[in-house]
Amino acid sequence: MDSYSYKIKGGIPLKGDVNISGSKNAVLGILAAAMMIDGTCTLENVPDISDVHVMVKICESLGAKIETEIAPEGSVTLHIDPSGINTPKATNPDVSKIRASYYLLGALLGRCGEASLRMPGGCDFGQRPIDLHLKAFKQMGAKGADYRNINGGVISLHANPLRGAKIFLDIVSVGATINVMLAACKAQGNTTIVNAAKEPHIVDVANFLNAMGARIRGAGTDTINIAGVPHLPGNFTYSIIPDQIETGTYMIAAAVTGGDVTIHNIIPTHMDPLSSKMREMGYIIEEGDDYLRVYKDPEEEIWGTNVKTAPYPGFPTDLQPQTVVLLCLSKGQSKMDEDVWENRYQYIPELIRMGANINIFDHIALVNGIDKFTSADVKAPDLRAGAALVCAALAADGVTYIDEARRIDRGYEKIVDKLRSLGADIEIAESRGIFEDTEA
Ligand code: EPZ
Repeated sequence: MDSYSYKIKGGIPLKGDVNISGSKNAVLGILAAAMMIDGTCTLENVPDISDVHVMVKICESLGAKIETEIAPEGSVTLHIDPSGINTPKATNPDVSKIRASYYLLGALLGRCGEASLRMPGGCDFGQRPIDLHLKAFKQMGAKGADYRNINGGVISLHANPLRGAKIFLDIVSVGATINVMLAACKAQGNTTIVNAAKEPHIVDVANFLNAMGARIRGAGTDTINIAGVPHLPGNFTYSIIPDQIETGTYMIAAAVTGGDVTIHNIIPTHMDPLSSKMREMGYIIEEGDDYLRVYKDPEEEIWGTNVKTAPYPGFPTDLQPQTVVLLCLSKGQSKMDEDVWENRYQYIPELIRMGANINIFDHIALVNGIDKFTSADVKAPDLRAGAALVCAALAADGVTYIDEARRIDRGYEKIVDKLRSLGADIEIAESRGIFEDTEA
């Protein structure tokens, strides 16, 4: 079924334990990195999500062999052998389905000294440029690294040789940081990335590259040094870190339903930006080595707060929509300041259908607290907005239908099963189709 809905009967407090899956934004970079290996590798704790399926298909279209192993308990392991790669051209139509396909520019430049890529896709909350990626590749000696050279929706680069360089990123960019790291691993000489992104998934990709035989130092800080090497021998097993954004989404789902949930297989420090905000609002967040428990004192009032998104360790933009739902169900007026993306409030009209009281002024959303959401027919404009609507539907009285639910499955493994295991009343339903071709 291509387009389907989630049907959620809300008002049930979520209770119990949930396990977090591997990080989407780490594994997509790592799959591209694996294409540079002179050997094979095994990836464990891979999330079973549609963006991974698409990235695997793209890598196989290049000639790589990827065998998927599913354990009885459902965990996914990939056995990867890129030795069959017979082209530097990632122009398969699937490339335009996801944003992370652009990591193949760096990986194929590193492996083959040349790369062609159909322009990538991704959630639609702004222009999503790749100018920083191209500027860096140009500095490293790649010819064709310029928007002017996009021909028929494909950009083609070649660099003989690829040389290390000092790359200053004007804007902190997750994608550009990872893409430059990939290419720099095989460049001649040293590369320094200044003003690098520091997200947990950057560190995970760097750790994977070092396991491959790369020489990367400083990942997780704003300056990363990469010493180019001629070969990346591979032949190792690597486990993907837990997904920071999935974790935050379940923390918020537990909170907005007035539940008590323990979230396992996580790295609690990755959640500090959200945990500190939720404690400020009045929620109780108990931390263990690899779990968090989220609940509230029934006597405690929940008050709103102000949030501003920023590159890690700032507040993650990928938790912005879900956090606005949390702010809706708190007392007083709250302010969300979306400072990373220029247009990431497209879900707010859907929340307003459910009774939210929000006004948007450019990148600021002023949220006036309400007692309850009411159920409605809504649609998911993108992945994290869809997750936010799931949180709102779980908190609302009555039955909510969320159209375009496939967008949620891009980044949340087995979300229906996981929510059901916490007591939620959620099922997959026929698409309501009420938003198709809606004109302005
Ligand atoms: C990654 O996107 C994530 N996607 C996004 O998560 C996340 O929102 C974003 O990082 C920020 O954390 C993946 O990892 C697959 P950026 P990316 O480059 O790399 C500007 C999700 O929900 N910019 O860090 O595309 C850009 O416009 C997704 O999992 C340029 O100007 O984000 C933005 O304002 C949604 N030129 C800012 O930098 C460039 O060449 C940050 O973008 C590149 C980026």
